[in-house]
Amino acid sequence: MREGTAPLIRREDYTAPAFWIRSVDLCFDLDPAKTLVINRMQLERNVDVPAQPLKLHGEDLSLTRVLVNGESVSFRHDDGMLVIDSLQGVPPGPFTLEIRNTCAPEKNTHLSGLYTSGGGFFTQCEAEGFRRVTYFLDRPDVMAVYTVTLRANKQAYPVLLSNGNLVEQGELDNGRHFAKWHDPFPKPSYLFALVAADLVAREQWVTTRSGKNHLLQVYVRRGDLDKTEHAMNSLIASVVWDEARFKLPLDLERFMIVAVGDFNMGAMENKGLNIFNTKYVLANPATATDADYLGIESVVGHEYFHNWTGNRITCRDWFQLSLKEGLTVFRDQEFSMDMAGSASARAVKRIDDVRTLRLSQFPEDAGPMAHPVRPDSYVEINNFYTATVYDKGAEVVRMMQALVGRDGFARGMTLYFERHDGRAVTCDDFAQAIADANPHSELAPRLGQFKRWYSQAGTPKVSARGRYDAPTRTYTLLLEQSCAPTPGQADKQPYVIPMAMGLIGRDGRSLPLQLEDEPMPPSGSFPLDRVLVLSEAREFFTFVNVDEEPVPSLLRGFSAPVTLADGLTDADLLLLLQHDTDPFNRWEAGQRLALARLLAAVRGGVELALDAPFIDAMRAVLRHPTLDASFKELVLIPPSEIYVSEQLESVDPQRVHSAREAMRLQLAQALRDDWAAAFEASQVHGGYSPDPVSVGKRGLANLALGMLCMDSMARGDTVWPGRAYQRFKDAGNMTERQGALLALVGAHSELAEPALARFYELFKNEPLVIDKWFSIQATAPESNGRVLAKVKSLMSHPDFTLKNPNRARSLIAALCMNNPAAFHRADAAGYVFWADRVLELDPTNPQLAARLARVMDRWSRLADPYRSAAREAVSRVAAKPDLSNDVREIVTRALSDA
Ligand code: BES
Ligand code: ZN
Repeated sequence: MREGTAPLIRREDYTAPAFWIRSVDLCFDLDPAKTLVINRMQLERNVDVPAQPLKLHGEDLSLTRVLVNGESVSFRHDDGMLVIDSLQGVPPGPFTLEIRNTCAPEKNTHLSGLYTSGGGFFTQCEAEGFRRVTYFLDRPDVMAVYTVTLRANKQAYPVLLSNGNLVEQGELDNGRHFAKWHDPFPKPSYLFALVAADLVAREQWVTTRSGKNHLLQVYVRRGDLDKTEHAMNSLIASVVWDEARFKLPLDLERFMIVAVGDFNMGAMENKGLNIFNTKYVLANPATATDADYLGIESVVGHEYFHNWTGNRITCRDWFQLSLKEGLTVFRDQEFSMDMAGSASARAVKRIDDVRTLRLSQFPEDAGPMAHPVRPDSYVEINNFYTATVYDKGAEVVRMMQALVGRDGFARGMTLYFERHDGRAVTCDDFAQAIADANPHSELAPRLGQFKRWYSQAGTPKVSARGRYDAPTRTYTLLLEQSCAPTPGQADKQPYVIPMAMGLIGRDGRSLPLQLEDEPMPPSGSFPLDRVLVLSEAREFFTFVNVDEEPVPSLLRGFSAPVTLADGLTDADLLLLLQHDTDPFNRWEAGQRLALARLLAAVRGGVELALDAPFIDAMRAVLRHPTLDASFKELVLIPPSEIYVSEQLESVDPQRVHSAREAMRLQLAQALRDDWAAAFEASQVHGGYSPDPVSVGKRGLANLALGMLCMDSMARGDTVWPGRAYQRFKDAGNMTERQGALLALVGAHSELAEPALARFYELFKNEPLVIDKWFSIQATAPESNGRVLAKVKSLMSHPDFTLKNPNRARSLIAALCMNNPAAFHRADAAGYVFWADRVLELDPTNPQLAARLARVMDRWSRLADPYRSAAREAVSRVAAKPDLSNDVREIVTRALSDA
């Protein structure tokens, strides 16, 4: 059964708007309880579509007047829209529409539209929040030029910001003041923003290549200025990078970032006025970890890069969301890699991105929410800001780059801007530009087939079998692809899959890759690394002049978002772990060795007992003289419980957890001396810097300390926990402090409680650190069901509130998403807790509730008793009559997955 009221929106039903809004003049009288909005628009009928009444979006607004060309007109409300029938068939040419309405920012708990936070006013308009500010054609293909006047009490709201350039400001009576802003770039309503608050800014002038000067500003609350240096540096680096790599300059005189404590998402790319969750702005060494520093760099980059990919060229409709998000994630990933520098640091970033994809997108593609990168339908667009649209979308762009080359891709981007700058376009337009700029590439002749990546949901599976023929010295690789059905898509057609690969000899050397009938390239030698393009369901690739039976290294760098079944043996994987020149596959080999052992234990229902070859291989990595610390860390962390669970047909989360914990403990014990040596060798001295080498060392030191504490506790020895506590107390930065705290908590040391208490005392005035404090407790290792009880009691802590999204996530989502063993309880108490929280959050913040609801996507994969208890909890949520469309869409889909 489909939900009662909310309609399903379909991509194929797209029609152009009946009217264009060319310009809009907005005037705000800001008051928390009742803000007055005067909205004067210049409209024009769209003569390309049949004459229709004007229908404007509006939500949670009070309308006070409507004037057309200065005259009052009759209007009606229909299906949540404001309808003006008399405008049907108005003569072509401009007319004005003036609307007055009010809204109540302080009552806006959805954090969509205009709301208050920390005593200031902020907006969030993507995707459909502008209709909660005023009546409008709130769709991305309607682009207008905005002039915005803000009026507010000067003492309470000294800073008044909107998009574009400040054109006027001054005093008003009654202690009020005003500011007037003009944004010369036509933009869709979702990119509108305003801020009125008591803020201060870090400022920096930069000069772009054309010689123009631009003012960069990072606005935060008084007292947070000392935490803005990294965000500003990241912004400067972003400006420089986009100009260097893609010739895309900053097009604004002034570029502002504003941090706000209550924010549903990470950050938002409003034209010239990016609004950020404080989590992605504020950092100093004492309060932020290395991961936080890297997160800030990538999110600042991401939102800045949207200025071209999203704002200058935007989406025709929300089905095209990946046009801006997939492309911009690809760009922020490339930015972070270029910033990382060394080949090894780039690989670490790539591995991290692939881990994220496998952790969130692969499960999505295999579950009830599976949808194509360009979805065909939705009920609530907010539910489609997904890992598929973002992360798989970025992989699709990355594959295009692999097929046309790095320079070819840059040419494609240039053509894309030549053709579509200033317009609202589709994913087809993007792919066409990349192909047209590269007519002789592997992409151009196969573009139609390649675009199946946009239209087909599901993760393709590639199977590979190699056969070596000694007499002819040939090696034949058979590649086959398939893709399982997803909801609404039973049959899948073959994809175009770029398969980066190499062949490795038994001595570990890379072998030259000469395909059958291939002449010697001009360089005089055959490559050691190449990309095969698989486009049929089944294809053979024959290599000649192969001297010995090789081990294939396939899908190097994770060149396509697929799963690979290549039938490699342990011996093959050990060889790759030792010798592969591709760092991604080297890491992957280690993960596969670990995964095989975890799966064997879980499937067989037996205790995991690590074998000597595996332990020796891990030891060799840990002791390796030249491998980077961060790479060692990645190899030595076993695959996550979620990733292991995805490989199973029926999941008992407790068994998966026990097997993984057993693996960690055995690695801790077997490599005790090596961990101690790694810990000592990974100390970072001197001032804090978030550079890849220091980050890698701190990461490995933290992992080692956790292992050493775990091993000590198992032996009843207290030396390492004591050292961890000392390190916790003396730490010079948050990465080391949190690492030591996690080591104590993770090992169930009795020093964990005093450390947590001390941590709270030290940071009780730092909200982002208190979020960490809640999270650490919600993700503590389970023992006798105590974590859930702890989380419940923390809900009554004076610092806890469900109203702040970061805080809600730090405790509730942390438990439900990041602590499987504490969440999936045989007594169903975790699921009952989840349902209660979803139902509690839904009326105040449906977007946040819907994100939490998605925790149960994979319920049907669980083994009993978890499965039936989980279904019952989902059903209980679905049974609530006045559920938001957001949550209803998620739980309805989940229940359809029986
Ligand atoms: N445009 C989005 C923000 C957004 C998301 C608005 C959903 C409305 C609904 C922004 O560019 C974005 O993608 N932010 C990400 C972080 C980014 C680095 C992937 C976010 O907020 O999580
Ligand atoms: Zn984005």
